[in-house]
Amino acid sequence: MTKTLYKTNLIIFGGDGDLAFRKIFPAIYYRVKGNQLITETNIIVVSRNTNDVNSFFTLLEEHLTLHIPDLEKSILEKIKNMLSYLKMDLTDSKDYIVLAKELAQKKMEQDVFYYSTSSTLFGTISKYLAENGIINEASKIVLEKPLGSDLNTFEQLNKDVRKYFEEKQIYRIDHYLGKETVQNLMVLRFANQIFELAWNAENIDNVQITASESLGVGTRKGYYDKFGALKDMVQNHLLQLLCIVAMEPPAKLNADNVRDEKLKVLKALRPFDKNTVNKGIVKGQYTRGEIDDKYVQSYQEDIDTFDSETETFVALRTYVDNWRWAGVPFYLRTGKRMKRRFSEIVINFKRVPHNVFPSGNKIDRNKLIIRLQPEEKIELVQMMKVPGPGGYRYKPSSLELDYSSSFDERFPDAYERLLMDVIRGDQTLFMREDEVRESWKWINSITENWEKTEQDLELYKAGTWGPGDEVLLPKHKWYQSKEDNL
Ligand code: BG6
Repeated sequence: MTKTLYKTNLIIFGGDGDLAFRKIFPAIYYRVKGNQLITETNIIVVSRNTNDVNSFFTLLEEHLTLHIPDLEKSILEKIKNMLSYLKMDLTDSKDYIVLAKELAQKKMEQDVFYYSTSSTLFGTISKYLAENGIINEASKIVLEKPLGSDLNTFEQLNKDVRKYFEEKQIYRIDHYLGKETVQNLMVLRFANQIFELAWNAENIDNVQITASESLGVGTRKGYYDKFGALKDMVQNHLLQLLCIVAMEPPAKLNADNVRDEKLKVLKALRPFDKNTVNKGIVKGQYTRGEIDDKYVQSYQEDIDTFDSETETFVALRTYVDNWRWAGVPFYLRTGKRMKRRFSEIVINFKRVPHNVFPSGNKIDRNKLIIRLQPEEKIELVQMMKVPGPGGYRYKPSSLELDYSSSFDERFPDAYERLLMDVIRGDQTLFMREDEVRESWKWINSITENWEKTEQDLELYKAGTWGPGDEVLLPKHKWYQSKEDNL
């Protein structure tokens, strides 16, 4: 065990909410099981909804049974021994006295406060923690999105938190950065000479980053209708992926080096204006349709609001205006109620400059496909000769590395890695404030010009690949890497 696994009080505000049961506690379970989260850790659940630790534990057991196959009772018991529960109203400063007492009794090397609450409470919680003398230099806080809904609201929220915490104490989660395949992208780029040699505008024709979901908006109607696909997925997850694809190699893989490089990419992103916004972006909303032969209702029916203009799909083309990427389009796409769930990054290389084969048949581009989910894999598409005499026939075929068949290890959820990184104090996979600021600036260039130009929302049937636009999507359809004609 590394020395940097500090003895920790992990305080989870909103610890009986959806995120806690779906992501945080399963992550705790697996890290306890892996003997990484040491059993001296105290987990203090804070909420208003449950009465005591026993009723909380019953709820926890129910949820973990849903999320974890072959749940082991012995691990659950270990978690039970680490748990305590505090009933608190987070908007009432007086209630924090109980927390102060609890932490004074349970002195540890560090206190990690996980804000698994609405972001409207981030400032209030920080203020009351400070007012009640609960925080010190070793305290850390973990923040979940949404970090604002535009540049101004982000600045305000950030200011409210930064009044009490230094940047090095703040862990802003983008769970895409915790995905194994995303971290592997850094290894692929920076531990393999062949890729890095070709990783530039001279050799790459375009980059495509796609997060397609078959789910709809679920229970998060109010939140989603205010945010839409652009702010819910592009501002954070897709831009973070773009940064990792496009950044320069950091001198050493540490938090500030990596984040400095990502920041440079965000600063180089070409903003939209009123002329380019309509040519470079498609936004859509799903109507009724079928997914896997099951009827699904429209977005407006899902949210019970029949004049909503919120986009559930967005596809855009942007450029990273720097030396390495000059002129290379980056296509970002995401949508809900698509035909199928998959997230992937496709690096489309340029065609060979000249066809030497007498048949003159088309030579396809090389493609590097990084499939983030499901069925995580890396695929390199290349031209191969079809065996047999009688001239050169060739066709694209793939070299594939499928994670599940190549590695025996269980595929950990992003939250496991991220949780342990907070405890260890490694901020590499968390967003620094200047990154978030830059990404909101760029998003603002879209939303402001959407307003100015009153860009149309295109409707698409649930269970399809979304609406199309000739500029972005050849053949007016949602692009799928294998069928792509670009
Ligand atoms: C969340 C978005 O951040 O990411 C959701 O708010 C989205 O709308 C989810 O469904 C996608 O995450 P994943 O890991 O399932 O791709």
